[in-house]
Amino acid sequence: MKHPFHTYRSLFPILSGHVHLAACSGSALALPVAKAVDEYQNGLLTAGADWKAHLDKMDEAKEKFARLIGAEKEEIAVLPSVSDAVAAVAASLPQPPHRRQIAFTDIDFPAVGQIWLAQDRFKDHLIIIQSEDGMIDLEQYEKDVTDQTLLTCVPHAGYRNGFKQDVKQIAEIVHQKGSLLFVDAYQTAGHIPIHVKDMDIDILAAGTRKYMLGIPGTAFLYMKRELCGQFEPKTAGWFGRNKPFALDSCFAEGAKRFESGTPSFISIYAADAALRLLLEAEPGRIEHYLRELAAFSLQYGAEKGLKIIGPETVHNRTSLISVYAEEAGRMEALLREKHIIVSARNNVIRIAPHFYNTKEEIGFVMDEMAALFG
Ligand SMILES: Cc1ncc(COP(=O)(O)O)c(C=O)c1O
Repeated sequence: MKHPFHTYRSLFPILSGHVHLAACSGSALALPVAKAVDEYQNGLLTAGADWKAHLDKMDEAKEKFARLIGAEKEEIAVLPSVSDAVAAVAASLPQPPHRRQIAFTDIDFPAVGQIWLAQDRFKDHLIIIQSEDGMIDLEQYEKDVTDQTLLTCVPHAGYRNGFKQDVKQIAEIVHQKGSLLFVDAYQTAGHIPIHVKDMDIDILAAGTRKYMLGIPGTAFLYMKRELCGQFEPKTAGWFGRNKPFALDSCFAEGAKRFESGTPSFISIYAADAALRLLLEAEPGRIEHYLRELAAFSLQYGAEKGLKIIGPETVHNRTSLISVYAEEAGRMEALLREKHIIVSARNNVIRIAPHFYNTKEEIGFVMDEMAALFG
């Protein structure tokens, strides 16, 4: 298999001494991203505090994320994490008297459910959509989402097994019942193309440190333009105002109203450089290549006798391959000693390639894992 992104590998220095297959948790750091972090620091060292430069960079990063998901810049807010984005929406969701239910799934990242559970006004009206073998049939949404459901919250792809959902179909089902759709795209944004308008997504959140190649401290919240005005943020902050520097009291027009205090500019610099790289490499091409890697991983893992959980074919999964391991944490540590970076969660080891990885790297890691399993 030819590696269509081989010229990019030299941008990721870690790859010369390690196998880095943990994009579901944190991706390898690219030189242009590290340079952007330096640019922020050097600016402070040589020119001092410069709000204008920092705010311009924030605007550029928002514009690039909007481009990545087919939205407009005014529909994007910057928040510190996906948890903050979900919490900001949950706290301020307008609630008509006859719609109190919030639906989320048992394959959501746990923090997402915990945030809904923490909302006093919704905690007795939660529907948890159940998966079977870590997957959810569309019929389950038909059954569980009702005409009382205010919002349905789903992950685009499962963090534990790479199960990828058909968001467009889910949107059609939940919209027919009058529910809003919130998509957690943290496991897809950056390597799976997303078009919020085509997919008819109302609200979406994704952080930058996984497949988006950034560092911790920045997540983006998308909210459809027509919806923004209906929300009066309860986690209000000065950055969510129309003119923060005039210390204005009016909420900003678009999604910006969800922003809170001074953001992590250093991570916004990183996000902007990372998004530039991703847009240049093109998520559609990245997805195509990673699908080939997923097909290889499924076949080679089976040959090696590894117990892979989640979808068995590439049509409803991402390239995240989870291998059952009783002592996943210990296994992750043993692999790290061999300069192999993977990600353990409960009883699985997650092998999560990005466009910079090769088939040979995955084969090597699976060989090592098979040897460790004995
Ligand atoms: C799908 C998904 N959603 C949300 C989160 C939590 O993101 P954050 O740490 O930005 O709140 C994670 C983190 O691993 C995740 O995988």
